[in-house]
Amino acid sequence: MKISASFLSIKENLKGNIELLDKTNIDYLHLDIMDGEFVDNITYSIEDIKKILSNANKPKDVHLMVNNVIKYIDDFKQLNPEFITFHLEATNNPIEVINYLKELGIKIGISIKPKTPIDILLPYLSVIDLILIMSVEPGRGGQDFIMSSVDKINYLNVLREENNYNFVIEVDGGINDKTIKHCKNADIVVVGSYITNGNDYQKQINKLK
Ligand code: DX5
Ligand code: ZN
Repeated sequence: MKISASFLSIKENLKGNIELLDKTNIDYLHLDIMDGEFVDNITYSIEDIKKILSNANKPKDVHLMVNNVIKYIDDFKQLNPEFITFHLEATNNPIEVINYLKELGIKIGISIKPKTPIDILLPYLSVIDLILIMSVEPGRGGQDFIMSSVDKINYLNVLREENNYNFVIEVDGGINDKTIKHCKNADIVVVGSYITNGNDYQKQINKLK
């Protein structure tokens, strides 16, 4: 299982602490991009990110919690991210976004919020590279894991096997050494506060492995 570390909960010396995080054995850096419209929080602009990640080398896993998806893809494609994930709830034309990411050669992720039923994802499963199951309401770090997310992970895993889909399953929010046990069928877990609230990031990561 891979770990994508979110730095959303790091409150001071962001650049220095991200560089410490970048030196651990995490698999991805998870960038939580919020526009203050899709969620009622605003985080990092592309200019902020270029500054704070200038010395970071880990592959980037961009999570767009924004309404104007194409605009933010145009901003963040400059980072050559591994994945760009957008919310199905944020667009009425997911195929347009999927085709645009494909054109750019960036791996395509789709995310759904906890209350969004899994079935609206079905038409896209054969053409996307990643599904991000939100196990908290998007907008903030440090929230509690929502158990109903486990059913979505397990259901997607069955569908993937039955249909030979090749998307990866990522789960995001409230992951710690206990809740991770429910996520055995996920390929990537996003972990923020459980890692960054401590002062020894690698020690926290080792508890998750
Ligand atoms: C929430 C973000 C998550 C969050 C995870 O909107 O998408 O990535 O930062 O943080 P923790 O692990 O603290 O729940
Ligand atoms: Zn996220």
